[in-house]
Amino acid sequence: MTQHFLALHDYNEIELYGVLTLARELKEKQKLGIPHKLLDGKTVALIFEKSSTRTRVSFEVGVFQLGGHGLFMSSGTSQMGRGEPIRDTARCMARYCDGVMIRTYGQEIVEEFAQYSDVPVINGLTDLFHPCQIMADLMTVIEHKRSYEGLKFAWVGDGNNMANTWIEAAAIFGFELRLACPSGYEPDAKVMEWAKTKAPGRIILTTDPKEAVAGADVLNTDVWASMGQESEQKQRERAFAGYCLNDELLALANPDCIVMHCLPAHRGEEISDSVIEGKHSVVWDEAENRLHVQKAIMARLIGGV
Ligand code: CP
Ligand code: NVA
Repeated sequence: MTQHFLALHDYNEIELYGVLTLARELKEKQKLGIPHKLLDGKTVALIFEKSSTRTRVSFEVGVFQLGGHGLFMSSGTSQMGRGEPIRDTARCMARYCDGVMIRTYGQEIVEEFAQYSDVPVINGLTDLFHPCQIMADLMTVIEHKRSYEGLKFAWVGDGNNMANTWIEAAAIFGFELRLACPSGYEPDAKVMEWAKTKAPGRIILTTDPKEAVAGADVLNTDVWASMGQESEQKQRERAFAGYCLNDELLALANPDCIVMHCLPAHRGEEISDSVIEGKHSVVWDEAENRLHVQKAIMARLIGGV
């Protein structure tokens, strides 16, 4: 069976930690200029049905550094945008390419794509999950805090794809995660149920941002309106008032805390300018680590490392 990377819950802690270790090795090699052509001569299709800066660039550059070719595709310029069935696209892509990354809307789209694909499929963000991002985030936590063990993680804001993936990570890696989401904007109920069964007592949901960040070591937030929710922006601004990760909230966290944001950020909404630009912010390391972690995922799945 072809191995895909669609959601963290398909893997255990040892497997995911192995990818993080490989990512650190590849980062070291890249910094030292040591060749690591683990995808020599291979082509990875990069399909985007939503906008992207970091994911597109880090995948394209990552494939290049691994000696392969990254092939950008958008729904607007391919037959996907004209309604060609996912399963047909998936079967054809697998005849040309050695792997596929796809960013799209429903998680069921990547699942169907993977079901019909004879080559590995990587989830580059869906409405439900953003697994490559959370792997980069965990790598960043390990770099700054040595380990995730014993740390308290906090999430302030929307119960979106990032929050859902953090919940899966907390259940798999066993760290404490407190999420503050306004009523009506909670994380996915099935993801919560799965995680609470897997790691009882580790994941706490509240509506109070202060409760979430109190004594936390890793603070996290994300935009109030994700891609596809642009028409809800104004309504969400009202619902999320009081959920800005600002200096007042930061003061309640562990004095050594780190602040993360997957980007793009809306300063003055989910995070203040002073916090994202402040000394606790690790967002640029976090963004860089997308490159290294995705190289590791591709090397493992497509390069057979
Ligand atoms: N964090 C992230 O996935 O960024 P992009 O939307 O720019 O790819
Ligand atoms: N939650 C955001 C993440 C962007 C990387 C979105 O889906 O738009």
